[in-house]
Order: sequence, then structure tokens, then C-alpha cells
Amino acid sequence: MTVLEESTTACDVGVRDVAARVVRWQETHGRHGLPWQNTRDPYRVWLSEIMLQQTQVSAVLEYFPRFLARFPDVATLAAAPQDDVLALWAGLGYYSRARNLLKCAQKVMAEHGGRFPPTAEGLQTLPGIGRSTAAAIAAFCYGERAAILDGNVKRVLTRVLAYEHDLSVPAHERELWNQATQLLPHDDLPRSMPRYTQGLMDLGATVCLARNPSCLLCPLREICAGHRAGNALRYPVKTRKLKRSSESWWLLWATDAEGRVWLERRPDSGVWAGLFCMPVFTDRLALLARLPLVAAEHSPEAALEELPAVLHVLTHKDLHLHPVCVRWTHPSAPGLEGEWVEPARLAAVGLPAPIRKFMQT
Ligand code: ADE
Repeated sequence: MTVLEESTTACDVGVRDVAARVVRWQETHGRHGLPWQNTRDPYRVWLSEIMLQQTQVSAVLEYFPRFLARFPDVATLAAAPQDDVLALWAGLGYYSRARNLLKCAQKVMAEHGGRFPPTAEGLQTLPGIGRSTAAAIAAFCYGERAAILDGNVKRVLTRVLAYEHDLSVPAHERELWNQATQLLPHDDLPRSMPRYTQGLMDLGATVCLARNPSCLLCPLREICAGHRAGNALRYPVKTRKLKRSSESWWLLWATDAEGRVWLERRPDSGVWAGLFCMPVFTDRLALLARLPLVAAEHSPEAALEELPAVLHVLTHKDLHLHPVCVRWTHPSAPGLEGEWVEPARLAAVGLPAPIRKFMQT
């Protein structure tokens, strides 16, 4: 059986119906006052879409204005040191986004004369901009008829279509992209595309929720094949789930007599890439092995304090963080690569959120 025979298709549901309903609903029930709305400036829209990838609107509401105040346009961002960008991003997570943000700004300046490409296809050639993000920017800024398909929108559309196919299979995901494209508005695109795109995002975030959808409030209720069959929660079908792992990290939190903290830069890839952090060890003994000189000469037991472990949940990993506080009195530094950072400078340094929290408590 082929994909199209098994599922309800965009045609069955009524292409124009979905678009018209979503557009109308967005006008009256969608979100309108977010700081990245009511603009067609690609810089602002791009910045917001990158920040909003897998991140709550509430967090972005805090970071977006701060980032814009420091980097008001693409030229200012392109000229910034990576450390400054990472420092403003610290706490938002997924730090490859911040590094790609800078690379993207530099490419826009160097290869596009300081202007973002005016199509989704052109936007997708830039670092950090995938198909869905490119479509969102092109729809919001240029009214282009391009489909978004992030996690929330996949949920909305697979329910509307009762899309039975496993989205872990690339061919099935490609087919859903095709269906999403068929459902797009056809008329008055400069007005309808931004509304429709925002409407799908709003539906996914506020109505068509993963575990507790508010079908009674949904503008697609009458035409939603999943709802009509009484099993909307069955969608999206995805058999291959993320494999999660768990690690313990022992953090050497060394402070000197002046209250400075010893920080090292994390490697360029992996967890917290490029950010500053205390030296990390995979077990307690390895951490203690960094202290023998101090042990011999300054009896560190009295100056060692192990704090309770804290669980930090990442997308793929549970991190069990074990901070060990040490008052560092030895004349040689705790590591070969790293630096003592004064308390006044800590705010300007890119620190992962849980590390910043440790230091504030
Ligand atoms: N998630 C992704 N893009 C968004 C946007 N423009 N508004 C609200 N939530 C979003």
C-alpha cells in the first residue's frame, strides 16, 4: 500500500479549508504581541526563529531584547567576537545555535551585501538555517508560499491528516512536507502566509498540545481526521525515539583568596561547547588527583566541600553535576589552560545556566 492510499491526504481534508480556518483563527485567537511580530525585518525574524528552536517563548522573551540591544543589526553582529555572542546566549542552551548565528551574520555581510536572501531556498544556504526555519522567515518577511514543519506543526498536521506513517522514516517525513505544502494558502500571500504560518505555530503551542489537546477550541476540529476518529493522541507516529544517556560530572570549583573562580573553556564540540566552566572530571578520584600538590602542602581536606549533586537534563543526556568547592591557596594554578575570573567579570562570561546558578547560590 502506498503512503497516499493509507492516510487521509491534504486533498481529502480540503486544502483551502485548512488554510482559511487557520488564518481566520490566527486573526482572532492567535498571538499578536510578541516582540518579533509585526515586523518584516529579516534580521529580527531570523534571530527570533533561531532563538525559538526548541526553546520556550518565555525564555526567548527575556533574551531577544537583550540580544537586539547589543547587536541591533546584522553588521554589528557579524563584527562581534564569538565570546560576546556566547556570553549573551548563555543560559538559552544549544550553543551551536549561537556559533552558527555569528557565522550566518558573517556570511550575509561577506556574500550577500548585508541583506538576507529573499527566498526560502536562498536562506537555507546559510549556517544554522534549516528548511523549516528558512520557510518561516520567508513566509513572515516575504509572504513566500513555503511550508514550515517543526515539531509542533508536525503534531498539528499529522492529526489533521490522521497521518499513519512513521516519521522516523525519511521518505514518510518527505511525504509530510509535500502534504504541508499542498495545505498552504493560495490567495493574497503577503497577508495570508504570515498569518497562516503564525497560526500553525500558535495552534501547536496553545491548542493542539502533545498530551492534552483542547480539541473543543480548535478551528480544525470539524475537518481533523484524527479527532473525527477519536484518536488524535495517536499522532504523530514516530517509532524511533531519542536514545538518552546519563553521565556524572565532577566539577572542581576552585576559588582563590581574592574570590576569583578558576574557569576553563569547554571544547568546541559537545556539551556546552565554547562556554566557560569549572574543570570537569568524569569521577571523583580524577578530580581529587588534580589536588595532590595542594594536599601535600596545604592540607586541603579542611578546605574541600562537596555540594549535593544536581540533575541537569539535556535533550540527549541527564547530567548529574557534583560540585566540589576548594579554597585554592597553592601558588600554582589549578590547570594548564584556564584562568582566574574575578567576580565582577563573571556576568560578562558565557556560563552554562546550571553553573551560573551554582555561583549565585
Ligand atoms: N516558535 C517558532 N517560531 C515562533 C514564532 N514566530 N512565534 C512563536 N513561537 C514560535
